[in-house]
Amino acid sequence: MSAILEIDHVTRRFAGLVAVSDVSFALNEGEILGVIGPNGAGKTTLVSLISGTLTPSSGDIRFQGQSITSLPAFRRARLGIGRTFQIMRPFPGLSVLDNVAVGALFGHGEESTALQEAREKARRHLEFVGLGRFADQRADELGGPGRKRLELAKALAMEPKLLLCDEVMAGLNHVEIDEVIDVIRKVRDSGITVLVIEHVIKAIKSLSDRLLVLHHGEKIADGEPDVVLSDKTVVEAYLGKRRA
Ligand SMILES: Nc1ncnc2c1ncn2[C@@H]1O[C@H](COP(=O)(O)OP(=O)(O)OP(=O)(O)O)[C@@H](O)[C@H]1O
Ligand SMILES: [Mg+2]
Repeated sequence: MSAILEIDHVTRRFAGLVAVSDVSFALNEGEILGVIGPNGAGKTTLVSLISGTLTPSSGDIRFQGQSITSLPAFRRARLGIGRTFQIMRPFPGLSVLDNVAVGALFGHGEESTALQEAREKARRHLEFVGLGRFADQRADELGGPGRKRLELAKALAMEPKLLLCDEVMAGLNHVEIDEVIDVIRKVRDSGITVLVIEHVIKAIKSLSDRLLVLHHGEKIADGEPDVVLSDKTVVEAYLGKRRA
């Protein structure tokens, strides 16, 4: 197994606050890595540091062996790093299809793709995430669960090698969660490496090959889901509080 992503002693400060504190880990190609931790633990900040909407205060991030730490987000997207946003922001006036087509147009390729081709691709991605029949509806008419799937389709339309999912199951019911788990498994089976942030422990446990736990910006555990979830430090820092 080779590492597609290496996080090397990465720290991110905001004024007096250390949101991500000296975190190191590697993500292997074809792996699904789950990232959990309490609110404010630094999970979204970590995703932003990898996708390039934030830069680290110190440390290095490598993608396929190349340092990407100083690259802007759009360059990282073109190298193959895709993400979803915890706070969803579809282009409200555009159709569901065209929201995804935008991803296909501006994503991966060196040359701009013709709109027609982008729409065909978008339609395939919408089918993939189960939104095919909503393609011609306006994006702002979608409910919460639909918007979560739209986030996934938009990110996939950029044809990533690595997909970063920030709470794509939040607010979904059990049936919808199982459907999104299936979609993420299909994503991985199509050859994409996945990092998934989630608070739904049952879901992340069944989905992840490996689990990493953040707490106050620090990595406090990293390993097999069963082992990590029964780790004393993890139970005290996160799981205990959730059950209380
Ligand atoms: N742009 C910013 N400016 C200042 N502080 C920030 C900024 N972004 C995040 N923070 C702070 O950094 C810490 C980590 O935030 P982050 O959003 O990464 O947490 P999280 O683990 O994603 O939490 P949640 O589970 O609630 O989504 C928090 O204390 C947050 O208030
Ligand atoms: Mg977050």
